[in-house]
Amino acid sequence: MILQAGEGGRRLPPGFLIGCATAAHQVEGRIDNDWQQWSAEDPSRIADRSNASVACDHYARYREDLAELGAMHHNAHRFSVEWARVEPEPGWFDRAALDHYADVVRACRAAGMEPVVTLHHFTMPRWFARGGGVLRRDAPRLFARYASACAESFGDDVTWWLTINEPAVLAVIGHLQGRWPPGERSLWRTLRVLRGLLLMHAAGAQALHTVAARRGRPAHVSVAHHERPLRPRRRASPLDRAAALVPNHIFNRWFLRACAAGRLLPPLGDGRRIAGLRESLDYLGVNYYCDDAVSFDAASPGTLFARQEADPSLPHSSFGWAIDATGLRRALRSLWQEFRLPLLITENGVADVADELRPRFIVDHLNAALDAVDDGVDLRGYLHWTAWDNFEWAEGYTQRFGLFAVDPVTQARTPKPSATLYASICATGVVPGHAPGDPDPEAYHRGAGAR
Ligand code: FCB
Repeated sequence: MILQAGEGGRRLPPGFLIGCATAAHQVEGRIDNDWQQWSAEDPSRIADRSNASVACDHYARYREDLAELGAMHHNAHRFSVEWARVEPEPGWFDRAALDHYADVVRACRAAGMEPVVTLHHFTMPRWFARGGGVLRRDAPRLFARYASACAESFGDDVTWWLTINEPAVLAVIGHLQGRWPPGERSLWRTLRVLRGLLLMHAAGAQALHTVAARRGRPAHVSVAHHERPLRPRRRASPLDRAAALVPNHIFNRWFLRACAAGRLLPPLGDGRRIAGLRESLDYLGVNYYCDDAVSFDAASPGTLFARQEADPSLPHSSFGWAIDATGLRRALRSLWQEFRLPLLITENGVADVADELRPRFIVDHLNAALDAVDDGVDLRGYLHWTAWDNFEWAEGYTQRFGLFAVDPVTQARTPKPSATLYASICATGVVPGHAPGDPDPEAYHRGAGAR
């Protein structure tokens, strides 16, 4: 039961992790990986023809950046390690890059923040991509070798690990929609990639556990699962219901059920047992942004006849994603009821250029998270996406998810009103019932307008 804390505020559970989530390619700058190649080869692949050459220059500025988040009372911070930096040539590990991430971990701790470390957040070394990427036969072995190198180098100070960020998103956008590298449009390849990512996750998790056990260290390992429930657009329509069923299973549940079973489950596998898979989740990382509506589309066999869109009856972010905090509570309950693993919200946030939606979004979603805790869900923390406006993949810099604005020329960081509100929640451990000084509550209900 959550204690009520004055003026309708609610207290976060003791030990609750609260902070921000980031990803290397989106903030660090100066990385040579498959994504850099993708945007350089054809700038029109990125909405504003930009790239992540500079991004937030966080690779150089991490000390000040992390100190600032600590000063704003965050007690946790999620970041990703860039594989292409750590292993620029196959089998050659760059000591300076590993030392850098060791120092990032130290800087988190010095700022009072528990590090949550992702090993793979969408990007990969070019040499790995050239050899077939996720579908290489040796992908699990190579990923495990990289995971071991990280665990050996800076794992003694890390307890919370994520092997792979959003396997299903990577598979769908890169291999079905063709909007991210390698730009494929094949359902068959999408399913094979999802299976390949599962094998990499199992091998990576096993490597992290092995190194931690040998060094007598605790390691909580998981995947950052993107939960985006697909609901029939018209509940009464059997066709819409049928169209939502299989994509919903494959996108939202197949990977996690395979982990729980320790097997390559149908329809993407033959039931074969996979070493390390069953022990690969100590908790569940949950990235939640919204639910989507699905309708039957006879013209779209390539997506299994499913047309996916934001629920038109809800307000939308500037990205066009639906906003409905009750969806977060439902998502957490559903994952808890099925998997009975402690949950950590590893991403949740809103694209909002003017910061007019974000204050209320944060308050509503934290309240929804606390509702889930009241429902009995074992929720360990909330990591907001994200700290700084950054390179948002195919959207470039057009979508802004940050608590801080970043000047592209001077790199000056400016806290938005939502950053100050979030800092006061982190400092007091109390979530208000409504967003104080909400500039325009009506704006929230209108939404920021779909793209
Ligand atoms: C998630 C990604 C993250 C960011 C947010 C907006 O799917 O994990 O890198 O792009 O969406």
